[in-house]
Amino acid sequence: MAIDSFDSAVDGLLADAQASLQSVDSLETLEAFRIQFTGAKNGALKSLQKLLGAVPPEHKPAAGKRFNQARETIEQLLTEATEKVSKVSSGKPISSTGPLVDPTLPGLRPRIGVLHPITQTLEHLKEIMGRLGFNVTEGPEIEDEWHNFVALNIPEDHPARDPLDNFYLATAKTILPKSSTETQSSGNSSGGDIAARLLRSQTSTVQIRVMESTPLPLRIISLGRVYRPDAPDATHFPMFHQMEGLWVDKNVTMAQLKSVLRLFATSYLGGDVNVRFRPSFFPFTEPSVEVDYWWNGQWIEFGGAGMIDPNVFTAVGIDPEQWSGFAFGLGVERLCMRRFGITDIRDLYRSDVRFLRQFAS
Ligand code: DAH
Repeated sequence: MAIDSFDSAVDGLLADAQASLQSVDSLETLEAFRIQFTGAKNGALKSLQKLLGAVPPEHKPAAGKRFNQARETIEQLLTEATEKVSKVSSGKPISSTGPLVDPTLPGLRPRIGVLHPITQTLEHLKEIMGRLGFNVTEGPEIEDEWHNFVALNIPEDHPARDPLDNFYLATAKTILPKSSTETQSSGNSSGGDIAARLLRSQTSTVQIRVMESTPLPLRIISLGRVYRPDAPDATHFPMFHQMEGLWVDKNVTMAQLKSVLRLFATSYLGGDVNVRFRPSFFPFTEPSVEVDYWWNGQWIEFGGAGMIDPNVFTAVGIDPEQWSGFAFGLGVERLCMRRFGITDIRDLYRSDVRFLRQFAS
């Protein structure tokens, strides 16, 4: 083949590719473009390579060079086409008939959804606390009264146990007629008292579970959902998330508690954060404090904390004379909302994809 014909074949191919690029506007047309020009069997570059074989030896070096240039140009056009399509398709649902992910497309990540801002926050909090040496532990959302109240030193008559302030679940005890409960429990010396269950109202339950089962010393966080029958408004929702922290060791101090909460806050909210403790009361800590963060010119309450009450240690069989510890519980929604500038907690749970898409990371 004469070198002139080879040159005009190259020119023709490049002109074709330029023209075809104009009509690429979807994953399908992009794929067609890719196959037409770079397809391994019958792609235009492949055909050009065959022509190259027929160029007389004295013109081979020049023709080879032109071939390589043409291939680079085509690859560049393919990249451009890919970018064009990714701009067009981002924000649009991927068609249910088309391929969800085409692994042959270079550098194209189709947008198939974004992580919910709360999920992003949970991951972020775990990562920060992990750097401070806290291991992540999980606990069940359906709890018994022992873990939700009794072991946490919350007595029977405490207002926090009011059935109106908790989601108690119907149990065999409440749904079976009295006589059949007695029949069922006969032979059980404790009288067959079936423990009431509830959706946990706080992640402090995990403190108990961890201390019951983990050798000391320990340093954990636990993040998860909690439930309270609050009427929804801008700052309340019947389900929300907490991050619980627990550190048990020989000489744990309140100063360490404050340092950990300050380090956490500066990592999560930014450098300018300060921490304030206000005296408070929780049955499971003594002394107890409310934790405020100074952020953007005001004090904002994020949760509670304190030194583990000796009664709690005793309930789980830990000697309070030997061991000490602190605990804290922070509201995850509050942290997330401050950071992302969300002002109504209900927005997080409306499942409105237009709202949620804003938080693409
Ligand atoms: N469990 C408390 C609540 O839900 C928050 C809390 C306060 C957790 C003090 C703690 C703590 O671990 O030490 O209101």
